[in-house]
Amino acid sequence: MDPVKACSIKLNDGHLMPMLGFGTSAPGEVAKSNVEEAVKTAISVGYRHIDSAYLYLNEDEIGRAIWKKNADGTVKTEDIFYTSKVWGTFFRPELVQTGLDTSLRKLGLSYVNLYLIHFPAALKPREELFPKDKDGEIIFDTVDFGATWEAVEKCKDSGLTKSIGVSNFSCRQLEMILNKPGLKYKPVCNQVECHPYLNQSKLLEFCKPKDIVLTAYAALGSDSRKEWVNKNTPALLKDPVLKAIAEKHRCSPAQVALSFQLQWGGGVGVVVALAKSFNEKRIQENFQVFDFLVTPEDMETLDGLNKNIRCFADPPFPSSSLDFTTPIPRTTTTPQVEPPTHRRRSGAPCRQSRECAGAPRGPASEILRRRRGLGSQLGCLPAHRQSAPSCFAEGSQTCTVRRQLWAARAWPS
Ligand SMILES: NC(=O)c1ccc[n+]([C@@H]2O[C@H](COP(=O)([O-])OP(=O)(O)OC[C@H]3O[C@@H](n4cnc5c(N)ncnc54)[C@H](OP(=O)(O)O)[C@@H]3O)[C@@H](O)[C@H]2O)c1
Repeated sequence: MDPVKACSIKLNDGHLMPMLGFGTSAPGEVAKSNVEEAVKTAISVGYRHIDSAYLYLNEDEIGRAIWKKNADGTVKTEDIFYTSKVWGTFFRPELVQTGLDTSLRKLGLSYVNLYLIHFPAALKPREELFPKDKDGEIIFDTVDFGATWEAVEKCKDSGLTKSIGVSNFSCRQLEMILNKPGLKYKPVCNQVECHPYLNQSKLLEFCKPKDIVLTAYAALGSDSRKEWVNKNTPALLKDPVLKAIAEKHRCSPAQVALSFQLQWGGGVGVVVALAKSFNEKRIQENFQVFDFLVTPEDMETLDGLNKNIRCFADPPFPSSSLDFTTPIPRTTTTPQVEPPTHRRRSGAPCRQSRECAGAPRGPASEILRRRRGLGSQLGCLPAHRQSAPSCFAEGSQTCTVRRQLWAARAWPS
């Protein structure tokens, strides 16, 4: 069997999605030419899943890389699984397809494999990514997300995307889509921040029975040079527990962090991981996660690292303040952050919170056993604060804009 297919999962609409994706979002100061080179390297190494978005302003370069690798015979464009995302300025239903058409034009493709609602916050339709009023305040828009979802469904019907999903949605927001009258397609995935410090146990528990894949971004702890990344977040890849497990398996902390995601699903399609690197050696290294297995005990230990810490900041108010037909709240509301749950994915009792005590123990070992079986069967062994970010505290105009956007963001819980 084609090894890429063997390391793919079946989405709830029947399409296959490679479990390891190549992330392409880089800090603003990184030259766009680096994206093109990195994507070419990634394709040469074997990645077939590429994640981008209108917001990243790199789809021209990614398109060039894909077509160059097509021209040199490395890959057929139809063998690439490409994800794009509709940005908030295109959330009005009549604009959704315009956003996708723009991405497709840049890419030189006739369809994407997956189109996601990027972020549950609608912005005033403008040229700028972050439309602002004369006082520098972000201008949000009032859009019924149900109508946005219907427009996304139409993009699937017209063949402009094979699959559709969401990103940064909470359980409640997912539920709103799932319960929408006349729902035609449910989301195939929810792409959210997820790593050993933020195990997303509650969201996983919600998504699994509904056959919605959780796609983990910032699986390596992201890049602290990014404007939006919380500078106070401890560096995941320097975590001593992660490092010790890596040493034991003679692999890198990054490989362990990725395996933590990929092994969790037991090969049956729960977690897909994204990894961004523009460094040739690390691009290769991150792809070498399909030939070793982290033990069930290590998986439990990694799960125990959960602290509900986000690289991409914390919510200033709960997602419940966002409704499908309600205008996005305008910042400065008194924060009402939900207390962190500190739950383990496995449901195992956890040191940090009493609320988890007595919860049923989860099936990490069973998952691993099944995954091992699946890996050999398919001829492939799949591997094995709550304060605003410091970058927002400085009062520059950019910081203010970012703060407003983050304030409006409704976080997955
Ligand atoms: N939907 C959303 O809202 C959303 C939000 C954020 C991200 N994403 C997507 O998810 C992707 C991944 O997230 P991310 O880019 O934030 O962060 P990430 O993949 O967790 O981490 C990237 C950082 O890790 C470094 N790195 C990569 N491999 C490494 C290794 N083997 N050893 C040590 N360091 C390593 C990279 O540096 P080098 O490049 O120098 O190797 C970079 O600084 C993004 O690129 C984007 O496609 C989506």
